[in-house]
Amino acid sequence: MAGRFVKSLRWSDVTPKATWINRRALLAGAAAGLVLPAAGRAETGRYSTDAAPNTLKEITNYNNFYEFGWNKDDPAAYAGALTTDPWSVAIGGLVDRPGSYDLADLVKGQAIDERIYRFRCVEAWSMVIPWQGFQLSGLLDRVGVQPGAKYVAFETVYRPEEMPGQRGGGISWPYVEGLRLDEAMNPLTILATGLYGEELPKQNGAPIRLVVPWKYGFKSIKSIVKITLTDKQPRTTWQELQPSEYGFYANVNPGVDHPRWSQATERRIGAGLFGGREETFMFNGYGEEVASLYSGMDLAVNY
Ligand code: MTE
Repeated sequence: MAGRFVKSLRWSDVTPKATWINRRALLAGAAAGLVLPAAGRAETGRYSTDAAPNTLKEITNYNNFYEFGWNKDDPAAYAGALTTDPWSVAIGGLVDRPGSYDLADLVKGQAIDERIYRFRCVEAWSMVIPWQGFQLSGLLDRVGVQPGAKYVAFETVYRPEEMPGQRGGGISWPYVEGLRLDEAMNPLTILATGLYGEELPKQNGAPIRLVVPWKYGFKSIKSIVKITLTDKQPRTTWQELQPSEYGFYANVNPGVDHPRWSQATERRIGAGLFGGREETFMFNGYGEEVASLYSGMDLAVNY
């Protein structure tokens, strides 16, 4: 079923993976006469970074997916056991068309495109990841959000027989996350179903995961089985676990340090021993698109 949910607009269709270095190189290729799908290029250009993506190897071998263990290489080692087909997502709460949607049905009709996003983990490391996905807003429009809805709650699959981490403590499973409705509707917010033009690897949250690029990585919940529209701020796994360290908003903010470490800089995975640390930008560099969502809010209080 490779590629079932990643349709036409893929750089990989026109570029061998080995030469897929970054967007600039691709644009140079385009100038040299490669035929690229115009719509795809426009979308990619609008929302994607020019920074060079991390390699597939880096993106799939340095993961946080605590359902499979606490070490960065545990997800790559153990996520293979997760059954991702069939897969359905229950959508409910304050929506006009609640129900259990088969993944293929959920994805049907959504405009899937390439999004090369910066990804900043709260642990102060970062990557650049070429996702394929569609805007969460497209799905929410389709199920019909009711006027009273103010938040969107997400839940990861609970399957301890396939997820060894769920057989242990530490986190109250299943992993849950949430967004304010306007954050969920922002065009940057996507549900990813692919990576590097291939189906989403299991360690990255197959078959469908959230990606919210201006927030710390823990907001980007993996392997989603439930989406609920609510009128109250939903509980979230990390806020519940350690509220003084992890807030509901979790916007990338170099001016507000984690109680135990600085958030002013980040280590780009793959930059090597001498790569040095890079400056962290407010909203992970997506301020132009999202700063207005928080106007008037004190982001040191609403961290
Ligand atoms: N989703 C679930 N269900 N379980 C998790 O442990 N970890 C979060 C987030 N989503 C996590 C999750 C954290 S802390 C990060 S940084 C990102 O996933 C990591 O995503 P990646 O492994 O694809 O880079």
